[in-house]
Amino acid sequence: MSKITVIPMTKNIGATIDNVDLTCTLTDTQCADIQQALMDYQVIFFRNQAITHEQHKAIGRIFGDLIIHPGAPGIEGHPDIVAIHADKSSKYVAGDNWHSDLSCNAEPPMGSMLYLHTLPDIGGDTLFSSMYAAYDALSPAMQTYLSGLEAEHDANPVYHSIYKDYGTAYPCSTHPIVRTHPVTGRKGIFVNASYTTRIVGVSKTESDGILNMLFNLAKDPNFQVRFVWQPHSIAIWDNRCTQHFAVWDYFPQTRSGYRVTIGGDKPF
Ligand code: SIN
Repeated sequence: MSKITVIPMTKNIGATIDNVDLTCTLTDTQCADIQQALMDYQVIFFRNQAITHEQHKAIGRIFGDLIIHPGAPGIEGHPDIVAIHADKSSKYVAGDNWHSDLSCNAEPPMGSMLYLHTLPDIGGDTLFSSMYAAYDALSPAMQTYLSGLEAEHDANPVYHSIYKDYGTAYPCSTHPIVRTHPVTGRKGIFVNASYTTRIVGVSKTESDGILNMLFNLAKDPNFQVRFVWQPHSIAIWDNRCTQHFAVWDYFPQTRSGYRVTIGGDKPF
């Protein structure tokens, strides 16, 4: 079995993985190399991989157990797969704001894996931003200030407007603003414009001002990679050190596929 090929896409984030067929059972070496590529590049991309739901879940499980989304219902027969779909009748799309998936959870997911089979003629790209690079770009004084702070991540404002209300509250959790990656040991910014509502223990004025500055870091092109999808492309990203933004510039065309979400642990 030949070795996977890893092709970096930018200096800070993103790599394309070639020379592997995800519709076949992977060897231990291939799994280890793919895991290492995700740690090195934070988001990895594959082309021409027409995977089944079972293959999708099997590849996701290379990284950990799959979790059930607390808001979006799973597809029939697969509670751990959510459909990512937009067409001419869509009123909203998942992920068209900067975010790290489910940072509202007490143990936010380590990663996510998105497979798209249907794409618009043009558009529907996904942007990914490195929160390592964002942290590294801050002044030492700002890094020190942030290192003692925690922020609240609340799904309720987002999910009550888009998902059916099951009568229970959606997750809301408090996490450190500067997160240490449990595998690489690198520090990254862990607040995002979708879920993070306030910094704990400071005034609203200070919280709003600092969060706004941190949210804007994700928009800096220096920290980003932009993925142009083709049918049967796959992206796997590490939610502990990245944010992403799904661009909805293709209405009324159709963009469609499936996502699995991989469990993580409590941020520190
Ligand atoms: C998501 O936030 O998981 C959706 C990403 C995308 O559709 O590109």
